[in-house]
Amino acid sequence: MPAADKPSASWPGPARVRRARLYSGLVLFVFVATHLLNHALGLISLQAMEAGRWLFIAVWRNPVGSTLLFGALLLHLSLALWSIYLRRHLRMPIWQAMQLVLGLLIPTVLVHHAVFTRAAWSVYGYQDSYTMLVLLFWQLRPDLGLWQSALVLVAWAHGCIGIHYWLRLRPWYRLVAMELYTVAIMLPVMALLGFAQAGRYVSVLAQDPQWLRNLLADAQAPDAAGLATLTAWRDGIWMALAALLLLTLLARALRQWRESARSVRIHYPNAQVVTVPRGFTVLEASHQAGIAHASVCGGRGRCSTCRVRVHAPDGSLPAASEAETRVLARVGAGPHVRLACQLRPTHDLRVTPLIPPSVPPAMSWSQGHLMAGEERELCVLFADLRGFTRLSEHRLPYDVVFL
Ligand code: FES
Repeated sequence: MPAADKPSASWPGPARVRRARLYSGLVLFVFVATHLLNHALGLISLQAMEAGRWLFIAVWRNPVGSTLLFGALLLHLSLALWSIYLRRHLRMPIWQAMQLVLGLLIPTVLVHHAVFTRAAWSVYGYQDSYTMLVLLFWQLRPDLGLWQSALVLVAWAHGCIGIHYWLRLRPWYRLVAMELYTVAIMLPVMALLGFAQAGRYVSVLAQDPQWLRNLLADAQAPDAAGLATLTAWRDGIWMALAALLLLTLLARALRQWRESARSVRIHYPNAQVVTVPRGFTVLEASHQAGIAHASVCGGRGRCSTCRVRVHAPDGSLPAASEAETRVLARVGAGPHVRLACQLRPTHDLRVTPLIPPSVPPAMSWSQGHLMAGEERELCVLFADLRGFTRLSEHRLPYDVVFL
């Protein structure tokens, strides 16, 4: 293996970034799932919801749970911005676009919810019990209730898409996919029904003025000054997030402008040539040029379906990362094979995609039968019978075989 092709161990490599994004996303997914489960207890009773909340708080509002949750949130958000920065173009499969848009929508609603519940509890001792929140979202401010329901659906859909595209490469996934789909659909439905059921119950209780007075007194809601402070925090966080997104897009535009000064040419089979700025991956170049190119994992370096045979002078290719080398070894890829989604060529090169663009996810780990072919030196002996065509035209196929 030429020196330039030795695995690189730079930190944090794309694989580490992807892993950190996955793990932080899983923590957030578990948080949302336990939140939904807690909502769903409303189908039993308001008391069951409150009991579930006690457990929920015990897990997520202790120092360890809080650090894990907020650490995962910050990490996930930062890595999402990082992936936007790295992205060379915005052409992407519909599922990836949906995940990105849903992911960007989450903070808009989440910040409001977190500031007026979690922060209000930490700073003002606000008791954000289910009874109080259901009264607020169902009876006093149904518009906020709609927003919160939207948050639940957006966050859940974002997480489910991520998990689906993470697991669908596993051979066992198809066996349990139906059960997982059922959970993915039923859990938010039950959560919303539980919330509605609790809302109807609390509406009846709220007709008793004494009950209402007791509830508001127990809640220790912040006064007008406290609400103004919380509102200012929420607006400040919203603006900071918007500024971060804007900065990311600006940095991305600046990088693209610098890269556009130097370009590489990628030759595909059928004499197609694509010219892209340096820094593009081969897969991004394919997408940019509208060339169908298998990429089951969406360019995350997991599935190996984007692999290409590369024809380039020795030492002219950037080194494969440890993760890329591992994935290529897993599918038994031969020499001169690279993952198109990881290879960012710095010189002109020729590539041949090895997997048909329509490959199903379950076959992405296949080692043999999906290979489009391999170059071999062969010796061919061609033998013929004189006058064979005329001979065979007047005989049945069966008879021709026994000539
Ligand atoms: S697209 Fe999946 S490894 Fe490249």
